[in-house]
Amino acid sequence: MGKSAVTLKIGILGSGSGSNMVSIVDAIERGKLNAEVKVVLSDVRDAKILERAQQHRIPCQWIDCAPYRTKLDDQAEQRCVQILNAYEVDTVVLAGFMRIIKPGLLQAFPERIINIHPALLPAFPGIQAWKQALDYGAKLAGCTVHFVDQGTDTGPIIIQRSVPILPDDTYETLHARIQVEEHIAYPEALRLLAAGRLRINDRKVEILKESRGAP
Ligand code: GRF
Repeated sequence: MGKSAVTLKIGILGSGSGSNMVSIVDAIERGKLNAEVKVVLSDVRDAKILERAQQHRIPCQWIDCAPYRTKLDDQAEQRCVQILNAYEVDTVVLAGFMRIIKPGLLQAFPERIINIHPALLPAFPGIQAWKQALDYGAKLAGCTVHFVDQGTDTGPIIIQRSVPILPDDTYETLHARIQVEEHIAYPEALRLLAAGRLRINDRKVEILKESRGAP
């Protein structure tokens, strides 16, 4: 961490629609992010993220995680690590991946697994955070990009972006407003990582100043 600029070799894990994956791919294609998406993996056989990966000609695979619904069992975890290594991935990006990451995967990619969460952590960890924020009566919501540790949504925070919660918001309108910010925040966090500008000090992420001549 905190070294010079590199081309990130990204592996993406997702369970849903893949809009964050698309925002990352778009940033790469527009020359805004020095990275390559090597492979996309999903625990959901018919997830839209796999379809979207195919449209972008990115290798993708379904990982059978049965019989568990929220866990990545040892076998599925090993399979993920094998595939990510085979594609020489150095950065694992969780984009709506609905399973808990266990020590096996964490140890295979120390300080190289990143997640996006649809709330301003540490408020509202866990599932459907935008619903939690609306039901709670919060006035601000947002998203957080963070390094992944052993906890649920507890790792060192890289970037946060906020949005207002409006009086007539529904779950859908609020989530849509948060997603607009997610699609800015995720490529930006990865850009900082690729530029070697992130350093973790005692769980705080320091964003180093841009060095002259950097991309
Ligand atoms: C996002 O809201 C993200 O914050 C959460 O899951 C959702 C994934 O959306 N972790 P998408 O599949 O990237 O569209």
